[in-house]
Amino acid sequence: MHYGEDSLIEAQNISFSYNGNVALRNVTFSIGNEFMVIMGPNGSGKTTLVKIIMGLLKPHGGTIKVFGKSPEKVRDKIGYMPQKENIARHFPIRAIDVVLMGISSKKFIGKEEIKKARDALREVGLEHVWNKPFGRLSGGQQQRIMFARAIAKEPSLIIMDEPFNGVDLPSREKIMNALRRRMRAGTAVVAVLHNINPVLHYVNKVLLLNKEMIAFGKPNEVLTESILQKAYGGSVSVVVCEEGYWHPLIGDTHG
Ligand SMILES: Nc1ncnc2c1ncn2[C@@H]1O[C@H](COP(=O)(O)OP(=O)(O)O)[C@@H](O)[C@H]1O
Ligand SMILES: [Mg+2]
Repeated sequence: MHYGEDSLIEAQNISFSYNGNVALRNVTFSIGNEFMVIMGPNGSGKTTLVKIIMGLLKPHGGTIKVFGKSPEKVRDKIGYMPQKENIARHFPIRAIDVVLMGISSKKFIGKEEIKKARDALREVGLEHVWNKPFGRLSGGQQQRIMFARAIAKEPSLIIMDEPFNGVDLPSREKIMNALRRRMRAGTAVVAVLHNINPVLHYVNKVLLLNKEMIAFGKPNEVLTESILQKAYGGSVSVVVCEEGYWHPLIGDTHG
């Protein structure tokens, strides 16, 4: 099936509250087989929205369809890389076991699963550490392992929540290259990013949040100084690069 016609994710008027505190209100967007980046300050509901797309949280209002279905029914088509802060890093487990967790929840792991896990590790340049304890690897290597875990089952949609936080430049490049190969092969990507600039030229859609949906559209439609100010407050500068892309300069004090 082809999801190029804005039907890969369809969200209508999504809202969500934690114990009465609004985290998301009236979020409406749809994407096809594309690369969407979710941006917004700290606490603006980005992770909450990602969990709703994954079917880990149910919206309190509105509807969401992923691949035309309820999100929890299509989880085997989605590779998920959670926000780093939410991962137990010192759990005694080998790198390859972390990747295998992304493929199968079955107790029995066969040759085919092992091969997929090794392929995914190779894709991020870490096949040689397959047997090392996950907790002993560097922060950048751990993020590459978490990315390998997300892609190992060959998902049709990859969802990443701040994948580059605290990641060294070579690791970021490895993840980006693997991601671009996947996108060229037709995989859709949703990424929460603090800094959109390293990937901006490949982005199809930007969703700007501050609990409410501030804007949704093509990068050059959303990344204007006045729209960014609505989300981040203060003044945000935008620099146009030689190829005509609008790069927002958002300081580290913003989320
Ligand atoms: N489990 C939770 N219980 C209560 N409040 C939460 C919980 N998770 C997030 N929140 C609150 O919901 C809001 C949105 O959080 P989140 O989606 O994590 O934002 P972001 O990822 O943009 O930083 C924040 O105010 C946060 O404090
Ligand atoms: Mg978050």
